[in-house]
Amino acid sequence: MILEKTKVLKVSKSADTKEDLQNLYFAAEIIKKGGLVVFPTETVYGLGANALDEKAVRKIYEAKGRPQNNPLIIHLSKSDDIDLYCETGKIEGLDALKALMPAPLTVILPAKPVIPSVITAGLPNVAARVPMSAAARKLIELSGVPIAAPSANLSGKPSPTCAKHVLEDMDGRADVIIDGGDCEVGVESTIITLCEEVPTLLRPGGITFEKLCSILGEVHMSHAVLESLKPGEQVLSPGMMYRHYAPERPVELVKGNRMKCVDYINTRSSKEDCAVICYDEQAPLLKCKYVLTAGSEKDNQAYASKLFSMLRDTNSLDVSYIFAFLPVDTTGISLAIYNRLLRAAGFNVKTFDD
Ligand code: TXA
Ligand code: MG
Repeated sequence: MILEKTKVLKVSKSADTKEDLQNLYFAAEIIKKGGLVVFPTETVYGLGANALDEKAVRKIYEAKGRPQNNPLIIHLSKSDDIDLYCETGKIEGLDALKALMPAPLTVILPAKPVIPSVITAGLPNVAARVPMSAAARKLIELSGVPIAAPSANLSGKPSPTCAKHVLEDMDGRADVIIDGGDCEVGVESTIITLCEEVPTLLRPGGITFEKLCSILGEVHMSHAVLESLKPGEQVLSPGMMYRHYAPERPVELVKGNRMKCVDYINTRSSKEDCAVICYDEQAPLLKCKYVLTAGSEKDNQAYASKLFSMLRDTNSLDVSYIFAFLPVDTTGISLAIYNRLLRAAGFNVKTFDD
């Protein structure tokens, strides 16, 4: 670390007060010197370093315990900068996606030689994103370099969406943590690759699959979004290969007939102490020791924004098992919830027919 211990600095959502700018300026200096800065985005917190400084980027992998073959996203303050780091000449659909930015969206494009291979894990392509968060964009602008950043969790744990959860994992590992409050979207950015014959969704998020289809016409969805991979299977996005978002206790997901789901969970929790993550509508019916609600079934954005926080909070509960309700369908933001829950549970799903 560059600093002796981790420094926590508060920045408001608008990131434009005198104190905000002083704090962001301080953090930008740490980035320039090759240090690690955790910063808020609209999706989850990121663990950032100067993307053009190989030594600094290596520190990210070390601090997270991240496998070396899992590449990083570069964060830019404006969409035009994509052309500085990616070969964009013949890429169809890119202009339409740029028009959406800043957004919870990451685009994979052929990398220019300026991008060090430690960012791409040796792949010919690089992932780029322009975050919506004003604090994130101001930090990048003041740093004067692209910022490489994975989610600011230890590898395998749920991504942090508030400063308290960042501190659990990154205290003593990052030089600075910028506390910008809770992340609104709550799940990581949508990832789409424009390097295949047809644009392909690799990770669902705040920019929905339906929206991408309406903009680009045909979009494929990688089967890894909703299915587990076969052992040794090669994928377009290395991050898909790893267990993710997992709380300390085993998780089982339920879907289908609501009363049958409730009965099943109540029977299980009469025998052992359990926690359940559910919608407001199901909460009064459940008899678990802890019932964590994420909002109404009609508001899946609320479920998404609380999901990682709730998964983490189960670690401090004295239970042996966690249940969670899957959304009723996989449209809109529900696809992202579905995708994250499947990974948190290691694809352990119980389906109850009507
Ligand atoms: O919302 C987000 O995207 C957050 C915030 C901090 O911006 N970042 C984030 O980064 O989620 P990370 O590293 O936790 O997830 C990035 C995913 C990984 O699954 C990685 O394998 C994939 O993106 N990825 C990165 N570069 C890639 C590339 N060149 N080709 C294919 N997949 C790539
Ligand atoms: Mg991550």
